[in-house]
Amino acid sequence: MALLEMRGIKKHFGGVEALKGVDFVLEAGEIQALVGENGAGKSTLMKVLSGVFQPDGGQMLLAGNPLRPRSVAEAQQAGIVMVYQELNLVSDLSVAENLFLGRLPPLMGYTRLNQEAQALLGQMGLEFPPEASVRQLSTGEQQLVAVARAFVQRAKVMVFDEPTATLSANEVEQLFRLIRRLRSEGVGVAYISHRLEEIFLLADRVTVLRDGERVSMAPLSELTPERVVNLMVGREVRAYQRQPHGSEGELGRFQVEAAGLAPLGLTLNKGEIVGLAGVIGSGRSEVLRAMFGLVGSASWRGTRLSGPLTALRQGIFYIPADRKTQGLVLELSARENVTLSVLSRLQWLGVMKAAQEQQLVKGWFRRLSVRPSDPERPARTFSGGNQQKLVLAKGLATTPQVLLMEEPSRGVDVVTRYELYALLDELARGGLSLLVSSSDTEELSGLCDRVLVFRGGRVVVQLEAPLDREEVVAHVTGARRVA
Ligand SMILES: Nc1ncnc2c1ncn2[C@@H]1O[C@H](COP(=O)(O)OP(=O)(O)OP(=O)(O)O)[C@@H](O)[C@H]1O
Ligand SMILES: [Mg+2]
Repeated sequence: MALLEMRGIKKHFGGVEALKGVDFVLEAGEIQALVGENGAGKSTLMKVLSGVFQPDGGQMLLAGNPLRPRSVAEAQQAGIVMVYQELNLVSDLSVAENLFLGRLPPLMGYTRLNQEAQALLGQMGLEFPPEASVRQLSTGEQQLVAVARAFVQRAKVMVFDEPTATLSANEVEQLFRLIRRLRSEGVGVAYISHRLEEIFLLADRVTVLRDGERVSMAPLSELTPERVVNLMVGREVRAYQRQPHGSEGELGRFQVEAAGLAPLGLTLNKGEIVGLAGVIGSGRSEVLRAMFGLVGSASWRGTRLSGPLTALRQGIFYIPADRKTQGLVLELSARENVTLSVLSRLQWLGVMKAAQEQQLVKGWFRRLSVRPSDPERPARTFSGGNQQKLVLAKGLATTPQVLLMEEPSRGVDVVTRYELYALLDELARGGLSLLVSSSDTEELSGLCDRVLVFRGGRVVVQLEAPLDREEVVAHVTGARRVA
């Protein structure tokens, strides 16, 4: 008997059939990857399992018993725990309190609580103090606490929805160790990711969803990354390979100063793509934020960038990594989000031209293949990857000269990622200069004309195309040092 059986699960949102009768079967002590293009229905399926959504049809069995959670709490009671990107920890409480929340043995004092927590953290190779309040931890560390809590909750099924997006390489390793440990204790793990590399490191079996249907379920040993992509898309897809092109001369120079950063001068050529590599905390994100006038003090072509408005006027646009909190107003429609940053330009001509606005948005929807293609839907109802495309459209609609991008392909499926790279290349050929900060070294080496590697707040080396991924990795991790 399987640990978890989901049979014929259906779910629709208005006219959108997100799940058209999906089967998902998970064994105890198994890690099963759940993959598919943006909007395929992965998150929806797991939200049905964890009590967020009520299904329109289908059955679920947990260890042979009918399961129909009407809330997240009910699902947790049954032993189903989902780790979201938006974490459900209480940030004012300590690590220890969060670990044992709702499971505090009566009469346990703080000393005991902290000891127990320390023991648990120690066993799992996690090093933060149990008394620390969760607020003080990095997002990645908070996520690890949320996973650690699953051990206390004695979860039977654990669901991870793109958990590594905000983690450093070191935290990813810790997370994988925890997940394997869950497996060895008999937990069934469902793991959603767009990073095929992770799936081939971690999964025992792979379920592929396409347009709300399950198209395949197979042991990892029968699959190759190419095969998985083909199943996701239903056709052959070739990996993206950019042909770097010659630079068209100097566009301008940035001077950047910010706390924790060595002063940096960067001359940007017209139509080039410059990558910023480095671990989280190496300074690469700080540089982009300073260039948009958000922190520190920076200048562009001699003009001081005192804030985002000045930066925008200078033709600089910044796309943050966290689209949920910084990139989109989730309650507004997709159209409103995209035009938010160009309103003044559209209004400048007098009355806001509704037709013009619609045309602009439709154009970007088409170029970025945003799905579903209706711009009037609230941003909140788009899948993760499609929200990322909305953020991009919003930036590109301002027709910037310099585009600063943080983790551009985070949450974007493989195929769309290649489309995105091709689009960025096209924009660069059209004269746009791009600065791309990314934790994905494959992305950087495949896309950029040159890559600046950051460590400890300074650039330690600049690598030029043709870029070798292994070399980028070696410099990022510090395995190779420049004399
Ligand atoms: N709350 C909602 N209201 C309306 N439509 C929704 C809602 N949540 C999801 N959808 C729609 O259901 C479909 C499946 O979305 P889902 O979030 O499950 O995709 P996904 O496979 O997780 O994609 P991604 O990889 O981009 O996260 C999409 O068409 C999406 O727009
Ligand atoms: Mg999703």
